[in-house]
Amino acid sequence: MHLHPTIINIAYLIASVLFIVGLKGLSHPKTAVRGNFLGGLGMLIAMVVTLLDRNVVDFKWIILGLAIGTLIGVIMAVKIEMTAMPQLVALFNGFGGIASVLVAGAALYETQEQLPPGAVGEAVAKVTAALGTTAPGPSMQLLVATVASGIIGAVTFTGSLIAFAKLQEIKAIDKIKKFPGQSVFNVLLFAGSAVVGAYVCVDPSQVQMYWVIAALGGILGIFLTTPIGGADMPVVIALLNSYSGIAASATGFVLDNNVLIIAGSLVGASGIILTSIMCKAMNRSLWAVLFGTMDTSSGPSADDVYAGKIKATSAEELAMMLEMAQRVVIVPGYGLAVAQAQHAVRDLTNLLTDRGITVEFGIHPVAGRMPGHMNVLLAEADISYEALKEMDEINPTFEQVDVVIVIGANDVVNPVARTDPKSPIAGMPILDVDKARTVIIVKRSLSPGFAGIPNPLFAADNALMFFGDAKKALIDLNAAIKAG
Ligand code: TAP
Repeated sequence: MHLHPTIINIAYLIASVLFIVGLKGLSHPKTAVRGNFLGGLGMLIAMVVTLLDRNVVDFKWIILGLAIGTLIGVIMAVKIEMTAMPQLVALFNGFGGIASVLVAGAALYETQEQLPPGAVGEAVAKVTAALGTTAPGPSMQLLVATVASGIIGAVTFTGSLIAFAKLQEIKAIDKIKKFPGQSVFNVLLFAGSAVVGAYVCVDPSQVQMYWVIAALGGILGIFLTTPIGGADMPVVIALLNSYSGIAASATGFVLDNNVLIIAGSLVGASGIILTSIMCKAMNRSLWAVLFGTMDTSSGPSADDVYAGKIKATSAEELAMMLEMAQRVVIVPGYGLAVAQAQHAVRDLTNLLTDRGITVEFGIHPVAGRMPGHMNVLLAEADISYEALKEMDEINPTFEQVDVVIVIGANDVVNPVARTDPKSPIAGMPILDVDKARTVIIVKRSLSPGFAGIPNPLFAADNALMFFGDAKKALIDLNAAIKAG
């Protein structure tokens, strides 16, 4: 059965509306499940309708691809640790990029059948293509979109593989050092791929040149991503996600497929918005993330900040302190995810609320290593979304908080962001936990966080360190509260 193009386009329109409504739903936890469902439904409609397109001549390879892809996807999704989610997303972006490269390349090969045969035919093709007329051969739209898919898709593919390797801490990647003039080299790579791309547009019979374009794009992806620090990779992944959408959208133009154009554009736009939100929350420009380095050498040393000023506490002392508290705010950070302490935090929350204490969570937009990291982690432990307060909402209230428990967070509560304009995190909005009556910091040592700088909060008069692995420390604290 083959569907009429009008029916296919109407179905694509419905699918696109479902994507947009689904995305809107994802913006709030209450509507997120429905949003996810609607987006999935849109994708199902798009897939079924595409399979009924008369362009599909043979289902054998499609079914085989679906089966292999589904198997790999299910295994990966089941096996992956929550803390390894950013690298999984990186890998998926990379697959999206290479898919665009291959599909656009295949479409270009298909157009060779439309080219008139022989030397005369080639000459006609060259002239008509150069004039952009509709004589035999692929249209200029198809050719430009194919070149764009090839370059952007290849950059996405190799860039994402590097991002994956960095987050996976594969040591070999760090051996690729930045060399003098690397930025100029990158510009030349891009210019080279654009020039070869223009050549293919003028002479579409040079189909093998497409692979040169893709190879140059692939090398560019490697050299753009290798100099960026592992800790900045989440921002890079959001950016590569956007690239994968743009590549898919370009492939949509190649195939003249409206739903691919729209879905690709949605991914492209949302990836850029996410990138900008992350940069803003770190008070860093995208330029600084991609091409800059963090200078952590200046500023006071850890000894200057901490010597003789650190006070440590125990589970028992903390349990007594909490007994007298009325309002407690928990601030989770990257260490909570590393320790997988979310269930222990849920137990602590339940113990405290059972005793009539108000418990809220202060969520910083870049706490952890990926957007929404803390929200996902706490949701996994069934912590009520109502208790999660965003930074702007909770900050003005810290003076009325009896006890703040900072768990595995560091940079997002570092007051130097407010006080030291020369600090690498100067201007980064932080959770003002230092304004609470008492601050307890749960971490294993005085080691710095991602920004690599000391945190004077740990030495503040109202601060107590509760040293230990977050999970173990919280289990001990819960036991002490129960025993009290
Ligand atoms: P960080 O500042 O990175 O601090 C995490 C702290 O967790 C460390 O100081 C570490 O101290 C502690 N820790 C590690 N393992 C632990 C364990 N098992 N138990 C207890 N504590 C443990 O984290 P943050 O405050 O969440 O800030 C996030 C940082 O990442 C920011 O600088 C942000 O700009 C950056 N960043 C975030 C994102 C996104 S989208 N979230 C993207 C890029 C960059 P010990 O070693 O002493 O235990």
